[in-house]
Amino acid sequence: MKIIKVKDYESMSKKAAFILASQVNIKDDSVLGLATGSTPLGMYKEIIQIYKERLIDFSNITTFNLDEYYGLSGKDHQSYRYYMNQNLFDHINIDKQNTFIPNGKTDNPELESNNYDKLVEEKGNIDLQVLGIGSNAHIGFNEPDEKFASGTHLVDLNEETIKANSRFFNSLDEVPKKAISMGMRNIMRAKKIILLASGIDKAEAIKNTIKGDIIPEVPASILQLHPDVTFIIDEEAASKL
Ligand code: GLP
Repeated sequence: MKIIKVKDYESMSKKAAFILASQVNIKDDSVLGLATGSTPLGMYKEIIQIYKERLIDFSNITTFNLDEYYGLSGKDHQSYRYYMNQNLFDHINIDKQNTFIPNGKTDNPELESNNYDKLVEEKGNIDLQVLGIGSNAHIGFNEPDEKFASGTHLVDLNEETIKANSRFFNSLDEVPKKAISMGMRNIMRAKKIILLASGIDKAEAIKNTIKGDIIPEVPASILQLHPDVTFIIDEEAASKL
């Protein structure tokens, strides 16, 4: 496990963008695992900048996102498909056919989940997985639980997560109560993982993830078992280490 402590959100974003851009340059048909939320926004901005300077080519890149709200379509402004198009895909030369996000509108979440896992495997698994972290240490939407979920699955979001994510919606009631999330198997099979965290709200989760026991009540703690994981965390997020 590698820990890169940086000063602030901007340095975290730059560092992460550099690692992602290097991955794309070293292997131009990489499979990238991507995350949403506010944390990676700065990284995506940096990536677009690097792309504009013509230093990076996404034409053969495949991406898999971690999760999607259940019940939202890709046209919905709060959906993660919409977020990815707006914040990255619409600005780079990626073929959208090669960008995968669970379909939140499926009427068969189990089949959708199984097919999603199969597709990740068919593409040879993820080369570089980018993760954020929830204040309760969730990754993707793998909430604290009594066991780790292996495959992609339908999740009941917990109160803390619904509240935290309500800032992207008009009201608490509008936040979907369920999501489809990649499970730990495909995350842990990624060849390389970077986890980004910024701000004091993440300090406790980061401490428990890095220093605590490997338990499903702290979902991100499973990353301690991964052979190539790098935490890129700012001073506030690192303040309890
Ligand atoms: C969301 C996403 C996660 C993300 C986390 C943290 O619920 N499903 O992938 O890492 O919350 O979000 P933020 O970066 O906005 O703090």
